[in-house]
Amino acid sequence: MAISSTDIRQQFIEFFQKKEHQFVRSSSVVPTDDPTLLFTNAGMNQFKSYFLNKESPKYLRATNSQKCIRVSGKHNDLEEVGVDNYHHTFFEMLGNWSFGDYYKKEAISWAWELLTEVWKLDKNRLWVTIYKDDDEAGEIWKTVTDVNPDRILKFAEKDNFWEMGDTGPCGPCTEIHYFVGDDLSKQEARGVNVEDLYREIWNLVFIQYNRTADGKLNDLPVKHVDTGMGLERILSTVNGIKDHYGTDLFKPIIDKIEEISSIKIGVPHRVIADHLRMLSFSIADGALPSNEGRGYVLRRVLRRASRFGRLLDLDKPFIYSLVSTLVDVMGHAFPEVKEKQSHIEKVIQAEESSFNETLDRGLEVFSRITKSLSPGEVIQGDDAFKLYDTYGFPLDLTELLARENNFTVDVVRFNECMAEQKDRARASGKFIHISEDADWTVLQKELSTEFTGYETLENSANVIKYIQDGEIYKIVLDKTPFYAESGGQIGDIGLLTADNFSFKVEDVQKSGDEFIHIGTIEKGDIQSVQIVNAKINENRRQQIRRNHTATHLLHQSLRMIVGDHVQQAGSLVTADSLRFDLTHYEQISKNQIDKLEKCVNGVILQNIAVETTLKEFDEAREEGAVGLFGEKYGDIVRVVNIPGFSKELCGGTHVNRTGDIGGIKIISESALASGIRRLVAVSGDAIQTLMNRQEQVISEIRKELKCSEDEISSRIQSLINDKKNLERETKDLRQSSMTGEIDELVSDAENLGKCRLVVQKVDDPGDLRELGDQFRQAFKTKGAALIGTIQKGKPMVMCAVTDDLISQIQAGTVVKEMGGVMGGGGGGKPHLATAGGNDIHLLQDALEHGKSLIQSLLQK
Ligand code: ALA
Repeated sequence: MAISSTDIRQQFIEFFQKKEHQFVRSSSVVPTDDPTLLFTNAGMNQFKSYFLNKESPKYLRATNSQKCIRVSGKHNDLEEVGVDNYHHTFFEMLGNWSFGDYYKKEAISWAWELLTEVWKLDKNRLWVTIYKDDDEAGEIWKTVTDVNPDRILKFAEKDNFWEMGDTGPCGPCTEIHYFVGDDLSKQEARGVNVEDLYREIWNLVFIQYNRTADGKLNDLPVKHVDTGMGLERILSTVNGIKDHYGTDLFKPIIDKIEEISSIKIGVPHRVIADHLRMLSFSIADGALPSNEGRGYVLRRVLRRASRFGRLLDLDKPFIYSLVSTLVDVMGHAFPEVKEKQSHIEKVIQAEESSFNETLDRGLEVFSRITKSLSPGEVIQGDDAFKLYDTYGFPLDLTELLARENNFTVDVVRFNECMAEQKDRARASGKFIHISEDADWTVLQKELSTEFTGYETLENSANVIKYIQDGEIYKIVLDKTPFYAESGGQIGDIGLLTADNFSFKVEDVQKSGDEFIHIGTIEKGDIQSVQIVNAKINENRRQQIRRNHTATHLLHQSLRMIVGDHVQQAGSLVTADSLRFDLTHYEQISKNQIDKLEKCVNGVILQNIAVETTLKEFDEAREEGAVGLFGEKYGDIVRVVNIPGFSKELCGGTHVNRTGDIGGIKIISESALASGIRRLVAVSGDAIQTLMNRQEQVISEIRKELKCSEDEISSRIQSLINDKKNLERETKDLRQSSMTGEIDELVSDAENLGKCRLVVQKVDDPGDLRELGDQFRQAFKTKGAALIGTIQKGKPMVMCAVTDDLISQIQAGTVVKEMGGVMGGGGGGKPHLATAGGNDIHLLQDALEHGKSLIQSLLQK
């Protein structure tokens, strides 16, 4: 009987729970607080601050199954995925950790125990690798396990020194590999880390350094253990299956793809099944396809899957229809995919549809580009870049198409184009500066700040440490009523005071468990201060509380009125307004906005008491409390409950009763990105400010229009009509006055043999062509007019010629030369043409040039 993935996951966790490890939920695949990572790429990510000693661990031993994505950055398997049967973009990493507690001996002996005693893996298939300088680990393997000593192999950095990314915690590791071949006697040491038949199943990392941005390895004060084992890999190993896609994690998805395509499993099925998991989990955790950063990775992965779908003749959106099967497989272990199923489906379907259009257009461009190429020739890097930049073809897609048609791609040039584009982006972009620990002046060796701000607005506190950066100081206290920016709510402002000392707090940020008060010293010297009175700006806080509770009401109202696919995609709660970004695919109508306001204001009028409680995470979720994308929640969470209406996990500050909000008014609705809308609203005092402003605008308008408020709209309409009528009249007047002038000019025209010529500068006559026709009518026969004028600051000329003369004088040719004289150009028909220039001082020259040109044409 096969062992299921659910059992393996459970057995791993229980094994370590018995060894006093705390179970910790998987963190989001979209990292919340680590700008060095696009996606969570290892189980240890959520513990990074424990390893770096920035936060004190809540427990010394932990275990879990972490959702991981490896498609970019240091750990990137994308190209292998689907081609073989054991690399994935998304996978689960089973792990156990020690935060400064046990070390190599326990980690090694427990790993061996679980593999060989619980899961009874064949020791004759197991191999062990250690870091070349780590004799200690080698000795431990020999003494605490019965692994064959000949099967302990040494490797260098590439294989046995693990790093999270270019910076961060790292250290030597020892790995356990499993031989999956059929003939046991064919095993040999030189196959390990080289041949596919030897699969790395478990990596035990001994974290002892932090690599900083300058590339240096710095010793950590304490040493840790970080292990990782791919669930997909151990599941197939324990079940004796070489192909991960044959396990219960993938099989139902593969079956479904076979069913809808009527084609038996191959590379495309594997790519699609793998990518479906990556897309669904990242969308469930709040990522969305877009043109940059993380969103672009999603887009690429989706396009890869979609393109492989075409190989199965699936050319309509279909990936979204596999989400329900994934939910059947994974929904019990990761409820988020179940909860967000309809959102995931919508996002994938919309993106598939738009890619199908792009793909069709891109394929046309691709065939145009390659039409002139013979097999074996190279597609220019610039063309490949154009396909990427304008038609959204990732390079690997262009390469795939090229291969299918026997071309290659100039990747070197493509990369140059990419780099040039990045430089351009960099020149216009801004950078996040991640400052490493700098030289703080430390008064007390405390690691955390206690937040008192739910209950109080003021308390006395000890200064833990401070640092100066030019005019700005940062101060950490042991206890503070100041809220630090998080969950979309901005930090409080206020004052820290002591005798002869006053510090203006302008912002508060959190770093680990520390609250950093950022601001300027108004009076005194920080060096003489140890205890301060910390007091927040109460009015501002009250307005923030109103906006925060209003945000919860708006969130729930959106789900009720716009639809339950609505997810919060971001929010900003300040004293002035609240901003709420949500996933939705079209404009929110005026009618819906009215309903939203009515719904929220209805709950405000009910004056419901807001309850906040601390609960176990799982209990809160079971009660239906809404958690947000990508938020990192601890085991104990704060639930903000507006009974009968909304329940959210939230650490923010809220009003006591909904009535305290006063009311809300939505002031704008706009598109933020594809599939995301943004609402901005105000509440409380700000409504009055808004109304006052509007009232003032209205009263100014009334004063100007001398009418009542009700009449404003009809008065403006009639003003617009008046304006139109006046414009028409002015034009008619100008033309009739021109007609007299034209007759005069024509009768005074210069005689050039058989032809009469008018050369004249006039005030802007409006339409020059109309004027030309008038001249032609006035002349009837044998006449030409050259008119110069200035329109919108530019010199303009017009030439009109009667029909009987156009065999000799072509107006188009004449004005072209005149335009040239003025530094511009123009043209038109032989009987009537206009030209413009750049320098008004050259208008006279142009007219003279035109005149002599006509004279010489007449002489021909
Ligand atoms: N963090 C280690 C890895 O990802 C266990 O391999």
